[in-house]
Amino acid sequence: MPADGAKGGVTFDAKTARSVERGYMTPEIAHQRARTRAALALEAGDHVLDVGCGPGLLVREMAEAVGAGGRVTGIDTSAAMLELAADRCAGLPQVRLADDDLRALSAADASFDAIACTQVLLFIEDVPAALAELARTLKPGGRIAVLETDWRGCILNTGDAALTRRLFDAWDEAAVSPNLPVVLSALLAETGFAEIGVEAVPIINRNFGADNFSTGFVRGLARKCTDWGVIDDDGARDWLADLERKDRDGAYFFSVSRFLFSAAKA
Ligand SMILES: C[S@@+](CC[C@H](N)C(=O)[O-])C[C@H]1O[C@@H](n2cnc3c(N)ncnc32)[C@H](O)[C@@H]1O
Repeated sequence: MPADGAKGGVTFDAKTARSVERGYMTPEIAHQRARTRAALALEAGDHVLDVGCGPGLLVREMAEAVGAGGRVTGIDTSAAMLELAADRCAGLPQVRLADDDLRALSAADASFDAIACTQVLLFIEDVPAALAELARTLKPGGRIAVLETDWRGCILNTGDAALTRRLFDAWDEAAVSPNLPVVLSALLAETGFAEIGVEAVPIINRNFGADNFSTGFVRGLARKCTDWGVIDDDGARDWLADLERKDRDGAYFFSVSRFLFSAAKA
């Protein structure tokens, strides 16, 4: 169990922000962003909100899609993330970045043509209230894209399945609202959204040590579980050494699915 308060055990400080940025620059997450942009069907001139924009990768891509006549507002509660986003979006006058909280957005009602909210709701206690806030700030007819991961369906070929299960369980416990994909359709409907659709965005990695999503994730998980007291340093080293061996033997396999929900404000 995470020692730093069990729930909400992830703090987006400068080190974590850089690690998230590295993981999100991999081709599999670039593909996820392309799917997210497609779901929003952005047009030149649109005003888009990226909630919990992190290092600003999606903000930059959406700014290019809406053009100089559009606007992309990226909000986040992490100063370190906002700094990375500002560097990434320098020179794009249509981008505005702000320290703002999804749970009480400072934007007026019906401000945005489209809203993206990717990998953020798992950190929020009251997800229905957060969705209501997104509905409030979206224009009638506007589109929303919400992406969350089914961490409980994460699979990894390891030599110690029981230990791996304990590490995954600790990760699950660190999320404030884990396993959101199973309830998001119903929650969007209860919030009053229409035209609700969902598609799976699988991440599959067959190499460890290469510059891919799972390598950063499992190394980060081993580090966090050491901090949380779930595993000691030797245990973490052995667990990672096993994955390195699997890679050398051509037996490394990781998969997790993300789910992309899209909907419109009636
Ligand atoms: C895993 S990162 C995802 C970043 C980005 N959405 C992406 O997919 O590339 C989660 C982000 O949500 C932000 N966040 C968490 N709680 C938030 C809140 N209540 N309001 C705004 N941002 C929040 C974090 O600071 C972090 O940057």
